[in-house]
Amino acid sequence: MSDAGTRLATDPAPLRAWVDELGAIGADAAGGTTRVAWSPALRAALDWLAATCARLGLAVHEDAAGNLFARWGPDGDDAVLVGSHADTVPQGGRFDGALGVLAGLEAVRLLRDAGYEPRRAIVVAAWMDEEGTRFKTPTLGSRAFAGHDLSALAGATDADGVTLADAMASWGRDVARLPEAQGVDGIAACLELHIEQGPVLEEAGVELGLVTQIAGLLGLRATFTGTAAHAGATPMGRRRDALSAAARAIVALEDWAAGREDVPVTVGIVEVLPGGFNVIPGECRFTIDVRAQSEQALDAAEQAVRAALADAAAHGGVEHAVQRTHRLAPVPLDPELTAVLARGAAREGATTLALASGAGHDAMQLAPLVPTAMLFVPSDGGLSHNPAEHTSPAACHLGARVLAHALRELTS
Ligand code: HGY
Ligand code: MN
Ligand code: MN
Repeated sequence: MSDAGTRLATDPAPLRAWVDELGAIGADAAGGTTRVAWSPALRAALDWLAATCARLGLAVHEDAAGNLFARWGPDGDDAVLVGSHADTVPQGGRFDGALGVLAGLEAVRLLRDAGYEPRRAIVVAAWMDEEGTRFKTPTLGSRAFAGHDLSALAGATDADGVTLADAMASWGRDVARLPEAQGVDGIAACLELHIEQGPVLEEAGVELGLVTQIAGLLGLRATFTGTAAHAGATPMGRRRDALSAAARAIVALEDWAAGREDVPVTVGIVEVLPGGFNVIPGECRFTIDVRAQSEQALDAAEQAVRAALADAAAHGGVEHAVQRTHRLAPVPLDPELTAVLARGAAREGATTLALASGAGHDAMQLAPLVPTAMLFVPSDGGLSHNPAEHTSPAACHLGARVLAHALRELTS
């Protein structure tokens, strides 16, 4: 229960109703939620969010990068921002990103209903394209807000050949005006609540995670090129099979990573060409996702990945090429702001654990520029990026109340 100092309501039902309503926008046939960047589903989600924020009396606006902001409190360039992303991975869950936005909104509602008035503004944010699913542009919205030059991304294309510029134009946005989304000068601190997306809190039996740092991400795209040939008439010793060479590489990557604690390596997308059941694959393209908690570990992993790909290509007698699609350095979070979250957790009598985030988050784009901290709530079964992703209503609401305590401390 909250202490007498801040009588916050504890009913988790309204927040869970928001999670379910938002989660239903972009509901897909697999029972998950799919809201990729600049899609009609994400548009509908942001429209729902804007209307929900407006009903709470917040001033809502959407910037040149498609980020949505809802402001409570006075003008000024010292606002405290709290939020996460509204886009999802394909067939994702209802909590990844969305809970961070809605918990921020719930924190505002709790404070306002408790009669609190912030001395400096609280801004709830829904970042555009954190996942980067469609154009391989992870954290696009928060990078634009942080003032990054994203002009090189304009020609990025999705699986259907649609460019980022055209996709943005379908929302009435001009990719050339992304620089107008720079807004980090207007905030003094940033908080993000997120589901842990792994098993650590649940296995430790702890209610909340205080995130120490966010893992670095490395994205590579490999292309193996052999010779398409007849599946029946080509002897095994005469083949240049791009897929079997790529498969050898992929198993080698898993074997390499399995021997290490915290350098997960994942191949998430594989394309086989020309894709006939009776044609030896002439080309195989696949993505490689690497995470590590230090630049050195990322460097070592990239070296090992490139060596494994070269060995497998040579073994299969095929050519290969490797392209780096993105690399984000590991990011430490702010200890003092994390201590504010810890005090909020203490007010609720919640157990906490300090841990590093294996997943990337928008917070990593803000942390180098303003004090930034993250709060994790447990993921049931450690599962995420899956329709079965779930966190209990009580855990979600505990997180929202801790955000409310932190926001009150930061804006009173
Ligand atoms: O990939 C990530 O870590 C995040 O879910 N975008
Ligand atoms: Mn995600
Ligand atoms: Mn996320």
